[in-house]
Amino acid sequence: MSSIGSLALSLLPVTESAARAASAWIGRGEKELGDGAAVDAMRAAIAQVPMRGVVIIGEGEKDEAPMLYNGEQVGSGTGPEVEIAVDPVEGTTFLAQGMPGSICVLAAAPKGSMFQPGPAYYMDKLIVPAPARGKIDPEAPMKAKLQALAKSLGKDVKELRIFLLKKPRHDAMIREIQAAGATVRLQTDGDVSGGIMAALGTKVDAMMGIGGTPEGVISACAARAMGADMFGCLAPQKPGEAEAIAEAGLKVGQWLSRDELVSSDDVLFVATGLTSGDILDGVTRSHYFVESETLVISGHDGILRRVRTHQRAD
Ligand code: FBP
Repeated sequence: MSSIGSLALSLLPVTESAARAASAWIGRGEKELGDGAAVDAMRAAIAQVPMRGVVIIGEGEKDEAPMLYNGEQVGSGTGPEVEIAVDPVEGTTFLAQGMPGSICVLAAAPKGSMFQPGPAYYMDKLIVPAPARGKIDPEAPMKAKLQALAKSLGKDVKELRIFLLKKPRHDAMIREIQAAGATVRLQTDGDVSGGIMAALGTKVDAMMGIGGTPEGVISACAARAMGADMFGCLAPQKPGEAEAIAEAGLKVGQWLSRDELVSSDDVLFVATGLTSGDILDGVTRSHYFVESETLVISGHDGILRRVRTHQRAD
């Protein structure tokens, strides 16, 4: 059976083409149009990938944005059976406002291996680098969590920096982190990038707090591919969300492990920079080329590649 990892170079053009298409919308104040351009480009490119894919996590429903919808069959129709999670533009506000940190993302895993969040839009997350894997209890009080994290990373709690989305719902958590002696790194959007930084242990030592559920499952694929650890817990924020989750037979308030969020090591995470940010350079254009940078992380062989692509601009 061919591995999902063997699709790495075939899936690379999917996020690249999304970023190139959406880059025409950088700073134009049009989130939906930028997202739509990325979705259309992604949909066209993914049709060429030699796989029998199905989108099980499409993004956009939460904000009624254009999307690659759940259940959509993608790929050329031959090759491995693959589950796909997409976030054509992660950080649509960054794109619309020309701010740093928007990326085009997908994750792929074998059929039956991704957690299906159904009607759950929001998830509480905890992502830590590989040395802390198995050492952190997501249910422990904040101070104990930070002490365990510091010990596993060979640091003092004072040296820890924690990524959180800058949202009022995190005010108490931010105060707890600071009271324990650690520092925060806040960003208004883009917790997939925060999760990647945490999983790699670059710029931050952990990512915590509530963000989107699709982004959570995508981050779990990245964390698993990198040998990092992650926990996720459905945390409804929208009216009616808790009831819909209960009706779907899912549980609120129960921490799922990384391996419950994605149950295979044979995972791929692919992200192309749209506007330059912490983890990737954005799309740039010259007379002759459109240049982009993509991160391809494969769990099958534990390889992280950074690929710079120069496409002739004619
Ligand atoms: P979009 O790209 O869909 O705008 O999502 C950005 C984002 O910040 C994600 O990174 C995060 O998981 C989610 O939105 C948080 O949602 P909300 O802003 O509704 O709290």
